[in-house]
Amino acid sequence: MQHFLLISILLLFDLATVHCQIPLPSTPYLPPNASSGAQPSPSQSTLPNPQWSNLLGNLIYFYDAQRSGKLPSTNRVPWRNDSALDDGSDVKLDLSGGYYDAGDYIKATYPLSFTLMSICWGAIEFGQGYDMSNQTAYLDSMLRWGLDWLIKAHPSNSTLYVLVGDANTDDAYWGGDLGIPKPRTSYQINDTSPGTDAAAGASAAFAACSALYNNQPLKVSSSTPASLQNTTYGAELLQHAQQLYSFAVNASGGQRLYQVSVPAVAAAYGSSTYTDELALAALFLSLAQNSSSLFQQAESFYSTYSLGNQNGILNWDSKTPALALLFTQIASTRPDIGRNLSSWQAEAERYFDNVINIRIPGFLTKGGLLFYNGYSDTSSLNPALTAAMMLFMYAPSASTWEKQQAYIAFANNQLNYALGNNPMSVPYIVGSNPNSPQNPHSAIASGGNDISQVDTSPPQEAYVLYGAVVGGPDVHDQFFDIRSDWPETEPALDINTPMLTLAAWKVMNDTSDPFFTSLKAGEYDARRPKGTPCDGAFPCNSNSIFQKGGKIAMIVVLAVVGSVILGLFGYWMVLAFTNKKA
Ligand SMILES: *[C@@H]1O[C@H](CO)[C@@H](O)[C@H](O)[C@H]1NC(C)=O
Ligand SMILES: *[C@@H]1O[C@H](CO)[C@@H](O)[C@H](O)[C@H]1NC(C)=O
Ligand SMILES: *[C@@H]1O[C@H](CO)[C@@H](O)[C@H](O)[C@H]1NC(C)=O
Ligand SMILES: *[C@@H]1O[C@H](CO)[C@@H](O)[C@H](O)[C@H]1NC(C)=O
Ligand SMILES: *[C@@H]1O[C@H](CO)[C@@H](O)[C@H](O)[C@H]1NC(C)=O
Ligand SMILES: *[C@@H]1O[C@H](CO)[C@@H](O)[C@H](O)[C@H]1NC(C)=O
Ligand SMILES: *[C@@H]1O[C@H](CO)[C@@H](O)[C@H](O)[C@H]1NC(C)=O
Ligand SMILES: *[C@@H]1O[C@H](CO)[C@@H](O)[C@H](O)[C@H]1NC(C)=O
Ligand SMILES: *[C@@H]1O[C@H](CO)[C@@H](O)[C@H](O)[C@H]1NC(C)=O
Ligand SMILES: *[C@@H]1O[C@H](CO)[C@@H](O)[C@H](O)[C@H]1NC(C)=O
Repeated sequence: MQHFLLISILLLFDLATVHCQIPLPSTPYLPPNASSGAQPSPSQSTLPNPQWSNLLGNLIYFYDAQRSGKLPSTNRVPWRNDSALDDGSDVKLDLSGGYYDAGDYIKATYPLSFTLMSICWGAIEFGQGYDMSNQTAYLDSMLRWGLDWLIKAHPSNSTLYVLVGDANTDDAYWGGDLGIPKPRTSYQINDTSPGTDAAAGASAAFAACSALYNNQPLKVSSSTPASLQNTTYGAELLQHAQQLYSFAVNASGGQRLYQVSVPAVAAAYGSSTYTDELALAALFLSLAQNSSSLFQQAESFYSTYSLGNQNGILNWDSKTPALALLFTQIASTRPDIGRNLSSWQAEAERYFDNVINIRIPGFLTKGGLLFYNGYSDTSSLNPALTAAMMLFMYAPSASTWEKQQAYIAFANNQLNYALGNNPMSVPYIVGSNPNSPQNPHSAIASGGNDISQVDTSPPQEAYVLYGAVVGGPDVHDQFFDIRSDWPETEPALDINTPMLTLAAWKVMNDTSDPFFTSLKAGEYDARRPKGTPCDGAFPCNSNSIFQKGGKIAMIVVLAVVGSVILGLFGYWMVLAFTNKKA
């Protein structure tokens, strides 16, 4: 309450000096106590439903807690401090600001770009959800905190900073935001040492957000973009998008994976291919620039790189599934730019029909979670929620009413699973309900300083990281809620994104409460599994190469499971091919 008053007073004084963005409400939105998420709304017949509004508000609030740099006087997170103010000093630039990536303190451009692209896209399609819940000013503030940093990270046409901090040293630090280890290295790609994926990924983010700020709708749903239009800002974003696209396509060092130029990123966020980002950047640029030739360029990437007929997942690295969806949206709502609507619709529906009916190479867990061996072994909710997000986004463009209903039904099941309709009775969003995770793997929120005592020191996590979507359960639907168990409990910028778009849709569309309001305090405790998990953080066998904690172990896991997936995919391709011939 004290904090609340203090922030209100600061806000009143500060409104005049807040610049560059929509003024924030004079009484700030602050997440309510988790216990309020166990109280069904009295009237569930009008829009917006207050529980969905709060959920959307909390999801944005998570990004406030992840802020790096000098915090604004409007900061809503009382336990956060200014931090990493010297970022960029090693290269004589100001690279302070932006967001900490996950439970650690690195700033990583590639997943940040995915995050911004995804949120802007969702806010173009379901923007009224932000407006109706009074969250648009916070959305604007959240996006600008990321985009303004990305602008600083792109100081000249062909230079992009892709990482600040070191995944290796950073993972050796477990403590608050006042003691972040120095020095923090700034890593760049440039004309001679390029990174096609990182440059094109950042271009796609700038282009998508430029379309949002320039109010260039995709009128697939009855909604309009969130009301944060600012064509000055939109034009600035577009310029960065164009330069980065040229850099990605035409760098004199050629086209290559960014970890080839900057091996340091491989420990945290190596990329598997740049072909998806090239197509995505061209496509979002076609929207932002109203250009049919860029649309055709994207089509040409799609066919040259054989991006069709795939059944992968959507995440920070893998964007191919988003392409047919966006091609369809542009072709159906902007015929002046896009063409081949029915072909794109068919390709999108081939993918979505596989997700909901056949699911190769995925499957449903016993509890009903869409699961992909390998990918879902860490952050299991992520592939399921990005699928749900795409299904909701695509549904208005479906070729038949039956398909539309089937897509929405499947997406709702995944969303409800994440919101507590699961064998653990856990809504996997911190601070939403008494059964929400209590121990997110977050150095910033934990209050601990002893990396050897991550789980026990302090016994209770110091700060509630409201609105953080955690990794999620294992393949047996089990969730252990252990702080050091990063595959299940670590939050991240990119992991939150699909939930924002899903919540925005619900705010504008659903009068009834989210699932978690039906869960009473103590239900998770009654179901909590005994023992410890068996995953990358908790070796099932003591000779395992895995160490507790962090991204390095994750990379090993990802590499191993990645090869398995590739193998399985190859096997499946062979099967499919053989069947065709038979
Ligand atoms: C629009 O954005 C620009 C660039 O951030 C900013 O300077 C300007 O104040 C904004 N205009 C309005 C009306 O908010
Ligand atoms: C939330 O409310 C419960 C029950 O009133 C209380 O025990 C708990 O301390 C509160 N939590 C926070 C973070 O304020
Ligand atoms: C949004 O703001 C309006 C005007 O202050 C208020 O009447 C309404 O209740 C708010 N809605 C939500 C969901 O906060
Ligand atoms: C940078 O890109 C802009 C186009 O956005 C172009 O006008 C300018 O010539 C480029 N500068 C260099 C040095 O290539
Ligand atoms: C911010 O600083 C205060 C001391 O001024 C400290 O108690 C708090 O833990 C710090 N926050 C974080 C996230 O480290
Ligand atoms: C270009 O990037 C590479 C890889 O980060 C770096 O080693 C090199 O110093 C950079 N070149 C310039 C001129 O800064
Ligand atoms: C790449 O370079 C070629 C040759 O100069 C030019 O025609 C083309 O427009 C450039 N592409 C981009 C995306 O800048
Ligand atoms: C896009 O360009 C076409 C023609 O090239 C024009 O008719 C249309 O009005 C433009 N749309 C927008 C939103 O600028
Ligand atoms: C898309 O449309 C163009 C022009 O109508 C046509 O040449 C091309 O074959 C179409 N591509 C697909 C995949 O249908
Ligand atoms: C919610 O979405 C469904 C499916 O698109 C639609 O039929 C329904 O009218 C929408 N409801 C509201 C309240 O917008």
